[in-house]
Amino acid sequence: MKTNPNNVFSSNPLNILISILLFCAIDTMMAQNVTLIRNTCKSSSKNNPNVNVNFCITSLQSAPASRCAALRGLEIIAIRLLRYNVTDTRCFIKQLVTTKNWNQFYKNRLNDCYELYSDAIPSVKKAMQSFSGKLYDDANIQISAVMDAATTCEDGFKEGGNEALSSPLKKRNDDMFQLGAIALSFLGILQAGSSN
Ligand SMILES: *[C@@H]1O[C@H](CO)[C@@H](O)[C@H](O)[C@H]1NC(C)=O
Ligand SMILES: *[C@@H]1O[C@H](CO)[C@@H](O)[C@H](O)[C@H]1NC(C)=O
Repeated sequence: MKTNPNNVFSSNPLNILISILLFCAIDTMMAQNVTLIRNTCKSSSKNNPNVNVNFCITSLQSAPASRCAALRGLEIIAIRLLRYNVTDTRCFIKQLVTTKNWNQFYKNRLNDCYELYSDAIPSVKKAMQSFSGKLYDDANIQISAVMDAATTCEDGFKEGGNEALSSPLKKRNDDMFQLGAIALSFLGILQAGSSN
């Protein structure tokens, strides 16, 4: 006669108890760190008007492993998100240039943005290295450079051209700027914590 291993397992009260305790412990730890994301995003948006609290929470929570991260880990996740955004947008611009018959104004602007995003890739890579090496001031400068790239790209479209077309990169530039602001803000919190 075969015994069902599930029955053996579930008929042992000790196993059930251990499982319940384990699930509760994991659940509590996860809840704590969702709270960490929420609280850090909240205090960031209070101190920095560029940080939108909902964007901050959504972005970080959707990143893999963010629930298990302490503040340092969250900063790494923020810089990583920024890096993915920069890389993806650079590629997007390259494709965008070829999908439409842009007028010369737009062609020039898109090419400028492509250059800006190309330069932002080494900056965001360096930011990660600086952060890992605890060179927080350098990381600050490098993250700021990435945010400047997004701002400069977006401002280019305001200088003229067809109003009706406006900036085809607005959403992406905004996302980049936001992610940069989050990374800077978290960095500031870490720096403040490590100096006392
Ligand atoms: C950029 O990051 C934001 C926030 O995490 C995300 O919503 C968006 O999909 C990302 N965009 C790209 C192109 O990766
Ligand atoms: C949650 O964050 C804390 C820091 O606030 C960290 O020490 C801890 O390891 C994290 N919890 C989990 C489950 O990783």
